[in-house]
Amino acid sequence: MASLLLPPTPTATSSTVKHNKIQTKLKPNSNAHAATCNFFLSSNSNANHRFNSAKCHALLDDVAKGLLESSSSVGVDQFQRLTEGLSHMQRWEILVFGGLTWIYLTARPGVLVGAIDAYLLAPLQLGLDNLSGRRNLKRSDFVVGDKLGEGSFGVVYSGILVPKNVDLDVVQKRGRGKTTQVDAKSKDKVILKKVKVGIQGAEEFGDYEEWFNYRLSRAAPETCADFLGTFVADQTNSQFTKGGKWLVWKFEGDRTLADYMKDRNFPSNLESVMFGRVLQGVDSSKRNALIIKQIMRQIITSLRKIHDTGIVHRDVKPANLVVTKRGQIKLIDFGAATDLRIGKNYVPNRTLLDPDYCPPELYVLPEETPSPPPEPIAAFLSPILWQLNSPDLFDMYSAGIVLLQMAIPSLRSPAALKNFNLELKTCGYDLKKWRDYTRLRPDFQILDSESGRGWDLATKLVSERGSLRRGRLSAAAALRHPYFLLGGDQAAAVLSKLSLNRK
Ligand SMILES: Nc1ncnc2c1ncn2[C@@H]1O[C@H](COP(=O)(O)OP(=O)(O)OP(=O)(O)O)[C@@H](O)[C@H]1O
Ligand SMILES: [Mg+2]
Repeated sequence: MASLLLPPTPTATSSTVKHNKIQTKLKPNSNAHAATCNFFLSSNSNANHRFNSAKCHALLDDVAKGLLESSSSVGVDQFQRLTEGLSHMQRWEILVFGGLTWIYLTARPGVLVGAIDAYLLAPLQLGLDNLSGRRNLKRSDFVVGDKLGEGSFGVVYSGILVPKNVDLDVVQKRGRGKTTQVDAKSKDKVILKKVKVGIQGAEEFGDYEEWFNYRLSRAAPETCADFLGTFVADQTNSQFTKGGKWLVWKFEGDRTLADYMKDRNFPSNLESVMFGRVLQGVDSSKRNALIIKQIMRQIITSLRKIHDTGIVHRDVKPANLVVTKRGQIKLIDFGAATDLRIGKNYVPNRTLLDPDYCPPELYVLPEETPSPPPEPIAAFLSPILWQLNSPDLFDMYSAGIVLLQMAIPSLRSPAALKNFNLELKTCGYDLKKWRDYTRLRPDFQILDSESGRGWDLATKLVSERGSLRRGRLSAAAALRHPYFLLGGDQAAAVLSKLSLNRK
């Protein structure tokens, strides 16, 4: 069994932290994964093909389902032939053992599916990519534009994918070639993250983010930004440093949820994005509540899908949620994620994540978890660890903070959020106690509407896990909470979009 679970990637060993960011030391087989992803990428110049990972996901899904179905369809006759000579009792023992093994391997986070993905689907992509001779991404495929952000280990730029028959009209060079302005209307806008060169831990961090993006492009592509692959700069010029790695995503939208929340008009500035048009016949406070609920529904739905694949994001916050033109909320920034399904970085680290959104327990697994076994064994043990520790609840706390920030205007600024966290800590992470205690004069109108369903959900997300680690709702349980079951927002969304289409 252990050999079946041997990972194609080397081991995540340890993590250290600097400036609120995890530096993860691991050496994934990045070439293999790069190549597997390139299977998704068309070698021709049509950039749309590059963005077509959904088709590949469907193909891989079919392969995985086929494998599971065929393995479970071993006929009764065959079983009887194989167990000929055994007593009735012995046959039962084999059946019970097989059944329990099956339940164990398919229980969350899904060791069996993880093994199929890691040992079969990923190499399959790689093989197909090699056979078809599809080219890798390279530096000259992109024009790098404005800088969008900078973290400890990476710098993020906007950019465009240059079509094969380069149309220089879309690229305007200004200022003696020092600044390259990217045509904002280009369909082929991308986001490029340069992994810093010469910074301790940066290379590992980049490899880690790359690994998770490939993994999610197979497992839950609709939840996150469309990952196009990586390249290594072949020469040093302007922003490029020879040998430095770059990660590339499809440009998903101009603004993150954090950008929208900075605006005084939030959440109404998202009304037409989320619902297709301004909601009519609904008073403004109800409209605001509906918009926030629609955003929360999307965030938690994505978290449910990601958690179903054994991944915990660990950096859920408004700045890591990009809002697309069509009102989809895409998770970005998987540099701090952990994958329990194949035992990738599941070990508790003395890490400092973003303290404003991090749950009180700080770790995905408790500190007293014994030192890490090798990855295949960690993977094998992952269903037990998942059941005992519910690591997914880490992200659910962060989602609860996002809900509070959206619903309570006085918690939106970074300073107010820090203050809130201090007060909450004083109240033992009990949101109800905090409500009586706080001096921040919060406006609970949105959370208290609809018989306080929003407030009730918030108290079940922003809380300690409790002694049995069940004190906080999982994503699936949160989606069953009455807050989401009312359905008024969905009906409003459908009606709005229908009337928009008719125009
Ligand atoms: N796919 C995308 N589409 C649109 N904008 C994006 C996309 N990816 C990133 N961005 C923008 O770039 C910003 C920074 O990206 P990201 O969160 O990945 O890196 P970071 O947090 O600045 O850096 P690091 O992870 O290295 O610390 C985001 O806040 C967002 O504005
Ligand atoms: Mg970020």
